[in-house]
Amino acid sequence: MANSGIFPRLAALLLCAAAVGCAESLPEVVMYKDPDCGCCGAWAERMEAAGFRVKTVATRELDAVKQRFAVPERLEACHTATVAGYVVEGHVPPADVKRLLKERPALTGIAVPGMPAGSPGMETPGRKDPYDVITFDATGGRAVFASHR
Ligand code: CU
Ligand code: CU
Repeated sequence: MANSGIFPRLAALLLCAAAVGCAESLPEVVMYKDPDCGCCGAWAERMEAAGFRVKTVATRELDAVKQRFAVPERLEACHTATVAGYVVEGHVPPADVKRLLKERPALTGIAVPGMPAGSPGMETPGRKDPYDVITFDATGGRAVFASHR
């Protein structure tokens, strides 16, 4: 039967449309991390829970990775990720990445510098530090993309 495959596919599409984070409509995230870093994996799990597929690249050459993707030194965190042509540095909340992909501003990327306690993948019992998601671009421009207090 020529059409036998279409109903499961339709059902998947409908399920997909109903889901909050639909993996099929979100681009793949590639995350570069140190093989010994644990919080990076926790961030990837938060991203996956939000519907992203995350491909992990373990490397000890993270300085070179950050240079290659033009991450400003002052905005550096543990892992560096790319998604749909953007750079996502550190523990950026999945919702902010989704907003970035929706608005598609002229930026190199967004970053959560350092590793604030309470950010996605950095959950710490009894502690929640306020932090900002900062934009960066090729001209050295910076701005606050989102504030988490
Ligand atoms: Cu981290
Ligand atoms: Cu990390």
